[in-house]
Amino acid sequence: MAPSTSSAITLKINGEKYPLTVDHRTTLLDALRERLDLTGSKKGCDHGQCGACTVLIDGRREVSCLNLAVAAEGREITTVEGLARGEELHPVQQAFLDLDGYQCGYCTPGQICSAVAVIEEHAAGWPSAVTDDVRPEAGPPPLSPEEIRERMSGNLCRCAAYVSIVQAVSRAADTTAEQRRTEPTGSEHTGRTADAEAAA
Ligand code: FES
Ligand code: FES
Repeated sequence: MAPSTSSAITLKINGEKYPLTVDHRTTLLDALRERLDLTGSKKGCDHGQCGACTVLIDGRREVSCLNLAVAAEGREITTVEGLARGEELHPVQQAFLDLDGYQCGYCTPGQICSAVAVIEEHAAGWPSAVTDDVRPEAGPPPLSPEEIRERMSGNLCRCAAYVSIVQAVSRAADTTAEQRRTEPTGSEHTGRTADAEAAA
């Protein structure tokens, strides 16, 4: 008997469970868009080069076109659809809106998902390629435009809305830091699902 080329899996996306049977070659991006109607994540290059398909997997940014759906089972997936709290936009979404961080908007979901993770990575003290002092005790460097550009460099924008995108990420980082100072622990608007936060 020929080996089966498909599996029944359950994907956990934005806090909800989605059972489906997929061919083993199905990418996470295609599963999201074609099977689950979660079309916020965009297909640009389909080769891991443009960032349009970026989602958060276990809180870290990943290009969904280079992840297989079967490999995503059991992981916490957050797409751009899962960032807002009801009617309240995520600070990154609000900043993109307020500062015109987009033109056609095609790259925007990926930019926003990346920015959410960038802000977390920076707050956690992760250095980038342009960080001068990478010693852990030095702490995070200021989130300068240069740092933002480097950290967001995996996301391309064919409309070249980069100037506004950098401003939006900077403002969202400030908003997130302010929320951390003023909100009770555990209520930060990080884009992680409630389950992920509970499990952390
Ligand atoms: S569509 Fe995934 S990186 Fe371009
Ligand atoms: S806003 Fe058009 S590709 Fe970025």
